[in-house]
Amino acid sequence: MKLKNISKLLFLALVVMCIAPSCVKEGPMGAKGDTGAAGTNGTNGVDANETCKMCHNPTSVDLIATQFQFSKHEYGEAAFEEAGNTGCTPCHAQEAFKYVVANKVPATFKLNETTGKWSNQYATIPSAAYGEIGCSTCHSAIHSTYGSADMAFTTVAAVPMTMWGGAKTMDLKADGGVSNLCVKCHQPRPQTNLQTGNVQDYASLVASPTTLAYNADDDKAKTNIVRPSYRMHVHYGSVGAIYAGMGGVEFGTGYTSSQHTTVASCTDCHMGEVNGRAGGHTFVAKGNFIGCNVTGCHSAAPISAATTSKYWKETRDEVKVLLEQLAAKLSVNGVEMLNRNPDTEANLWAALTTQKYDGYLNVYDPVNNPNFAANNPGGTFQNPAPASTWAADQKALNATFPKLSLTNAQYGSLLNFQLCLREYSLGIHNTAYTKTLLKNSIAKL
Ligand code: HEC
Ligand code: HEC
Ligand code: HEC
Ligand code: HEC
Ligand code: HEC
Repeated sequence: MKLKNISKLLFLALVVMCIAPSCVKEGPMGAKGDTGAAGTNGTNGVDANETCKMCHNPTSVDLIATQFQFSKHEYGEAAFEEAGNTGCTPCHAQEAFKYVVANKVPATFKLNETTGKWSNQYATIPSAAYGEIGCSTCHSAIHSTYGSADMAFTTVAAVPMTMWGGAKTMDLKADGGVSNLCVKCHQPRPQTNLQTGNVQDYASLVASPTTLAYNADDDKAKTNIVRPSYRMHVHYGSVGAIYAGMGGVEFGTGYTSSQHTTVASCTDCHMGEVNGRAGGHTFVAKGNFIGCNVTGCHSAAPISAATTSKYWKETRDEVKVLLEQLAAKLSVNGVEMLNRNPDTEANLWAALTTQKYDGYLNVYDPVNNPNFAANNPGGTFQNPAPASTWAADQKALNATFPKLSLTNAQYGSLLNFQLCLREYSLGIHNTAYTKTLLKNSIAKL
């Protein structure tokens, strides 16, 4: 216990001693009055030590804090790297997350009348744009009542998706909506229209697949809705959108979601019984099949990594093949649009495909950003927007590369590839939706 808390307890003890009856001076006794109505029972006092022990014991908070050391929420560096950035921190930093939840910050885009451009409203304020992800990110009431209400979740409300400017909402109802807590952060970021700054209209990509989304021979064309770059992407938190079955560019028909979307929650697989380096507050699902096989789920035909059961290995093998088939279709004269990166430190998804795609584009980008590996000196498509900081030889080399135009079908398929690669589970999160998205994209190209 911290000194501050101990002195609080001592203070309480002193107050109790002073109002004790022995302090009052006695006078002569008066006549006996009528008996009054019985008063209501007083509230039971709180025994500080007992309530503390409810959480502060070796099998609860103390143990959970140890598990949490193995969670990327804790050891990941993004909370530090993005601190101060009001647009990034709602998903990366504790105080920013609590701010957007408490203030119900909308995921809408707003038109600036002066510039005629739209901008993303989903942001925190500069004084609440920091904080490592910790216990009170998700349990924001800790130490407010010292009772079990303290463990309430910061939010379980339905999540208006930032990628759609709030026009679509995810609501994952299983287990009291706890998955909504997760997907408030684990959701894609918006692709914005090059001309208007507003969220990209996926329905129009689907409606006119052969129209050019970007014409590399006319960079200034008003019809260009995107300019392909190495980092043209939907960000990393694609799980939420795939899980909810509502984040793709839906070419064709036949979109349904697997059972998980409605009957399972993120915690079932990511916070099951601790097993090895997974489960509990490590939030790791990898290698932990305990959650899959609980009664009511897959207990009748248990799933394991070793079996060739259709629910694990077959599903994942099939999705891997579909990803690779889609990638192969996304090429121009034999040059692949998708980037390969064998560095397993930098490329979290390297193990998911044979070619080690990372979901970025194979566009040349030589300038080294000292803060993060945002450059792609090995890219082999021409960069349509060389920076003024490039050296003359870099500009010259860029000009030798083939140009990259994109049809709506290609652009949409690139986004679908990113979503399905970066949901990371090779289809386990939502098999039906993932397979349809990939198959229909392949068919469209
Ligand atoms: C409802 C659960 C709960 C109750 C009840 C509770 N705590 Fe905590 N307490 C927590 C959690 C969760 C943390 C954060 C643990 C961590 O970060 O590792 C914490 C952290 C602390 C810390 C460390 C703070 C810091 O900044 O490192 C102290 C001290 C503490 N609690 C004291 C108390 C005392 C004293 C009581 C009883 C009066 C109490 N707690 C009751 C859940 C609880
Ligand atoms: C405040 C936003 C936020 C919330 C809420 C949140 N996460 Fe995360 N989560 C993140 C961020 C950001 C990372 C990556 C951290 C980094 O790289 O520094 C992450 C990482 C993870 C990882 C590890 C990813 C990896 O690449 O190894 C898992 C698994 C995960 N979260 C699951 C969950 C689950 C399950 C929930 C709900 C119980 C949840 N998260 C709630 C933001 C959040
Ligand atoms: C809508 C929520 C959201 C917003 C806004 C957001 N991120 Fe993230 N970001 C995530 C999640 C979730 C992850 C972790 C995904 C995972 O590991 O599966 C992540 C991961 C990352 C990573 C780590 C990737 C890795 O290789 O480990 C970086 C870096 C990052 N984000 C940077 C940013 C920056 C910079 C911004 C602002 C321009 C930003 N993020 C805005 C949700 C968000
Ligand atoms: C990313 C969100 C998130 C973070 C961060 C987080 N928790 Fe939790 N916590 C949850 C969820 C979700 C559950 C419910 C798990 C379940 O239902 O299986 C939970 C359950 C709990 C419980 C009650 C159930 C149990 O397992 O005993 C305690 C106590 C708890 N958390 C403490 C902590 C402490 C302490 C920390 C920090 C070291 C922490 N949590 C960090 C999401 C989070
Ligand atoms: C049916 C089980 C299941 C459910 C439910 C589930 N996941 Fe996963 N998740 C997995 C598996 C399996 C992986 C891949 C782990 C591996 O590589 O073995 C994974 C991977 C991830 C990753 C990538 C990082 C990593 O290495 O753990 C994140 C982030 C993630 N899930 C978040 C979520 C969120 C958020 C939800 C709820 C919307 C969710 N998951 C629901 C099974 C599940």
